[in-house]
Amino acid sequence: MANIYRSGSQENELMRLQKFSYPFTVSQRLLNIGLQNNKSVLDIGSGPNTELGKWLRQNQILYIAADIKYIFLQEQAKSSHPTIQCKSSSLPLDNSSVDISHLRFVLMHLSSDERRVTISEMLRVSKNTSIFIEFDWSTFKGSETVNSFRDLAIDILDTHVDLFLGKNLRKEILKSSKNTGLTVNHRNFKRGPGNYYNELLPLANSLLSAAKLFRPEKETSVNESIGALTEESCHPAISFVPPTLSTIVVEKHN
Ligand SMILES: C[S@@+](CC[C@H](N)C(=O)[O-])C[C@H]1O[C@@H](n2cnc3c(N)ncnc32)[C@H](O)[C@@H]1O
Repeated sequence: MANIYRSGSQENELMRLQKFSYPFTVSQRLLNIGLQNNKSVLDIGSGPNTELGKWLRQNQILYIAADIKYIFLQEQAKSSHPTIQCKSSSLPLDNSSVDISHLRFVLMHLSSDERRVTISEMLRVSKNTSIFIEFDWSTFKGSETVNSFRDLAIDILDTHVDLFLGKNLRKEILKSSKNTGLTVNHRNFKRGPGNYYNELLPLANSLLSAAKLFRPEKETSVNESIGALTEESCHPAISFVPPTLSTIVVEKHN
């Protein structure tokens, strides 16, 4: 399994991640629960989006961004967030050295071995809580145009990204956490049908970059799909059901 973030400059992906809005709302809802008693949040695979860090700073919480990709961390540094360049499977931090560890849409890019070690690392460095958020594309359905884009994405990203990981997230985490003194809470965030083309079009542009790298024979199909989605996005009445965000909050009993 080749990690798409290890190749290319990913300008499209940088712009897409910076515009994430619903995933930020989900992180806020999960973090809100224990915010008063906690002082630090480590965001593993933070990407370039600075909203979470800004919101935590307003709440007097220290936000630390960790990622393998230097250009993403540069964006975090521009907002004065402390950064650590590292692999999620090897965090250069002591046991229980942050209050909360947070990881959103990262496990889906990792091989099963790396995923297992990353989950253990998340649990090791956090004193109180670990938050995991992943996509489950099995709910993603809409018009013929949307469905053919979805199927094209599944085909191109096949060996690189697990778009259905959210479905098995609880199982994955239980498998990797040998400690029995943990509470594991699962919650799905589902949205009803709506016009989410403002999320889909940036994803389609990132898919084009991925196709150029891994499946150049699919480039034309992605371009055609972008054209069809752009046209459909102009019709406000057309709606689709987006992927579910599957979340796990692990609490440690110290
Ligand atoms: C889909 S993006 C999500 C970014 C961010 N968590 C968000 O939700 O906006 C995946 C992120 O994980 C990072 N990443 C991928 N593999 C990683 C690894 N092995 N260790 C650390 N970060 C990794 C990528 O560089 C990228 O920033």
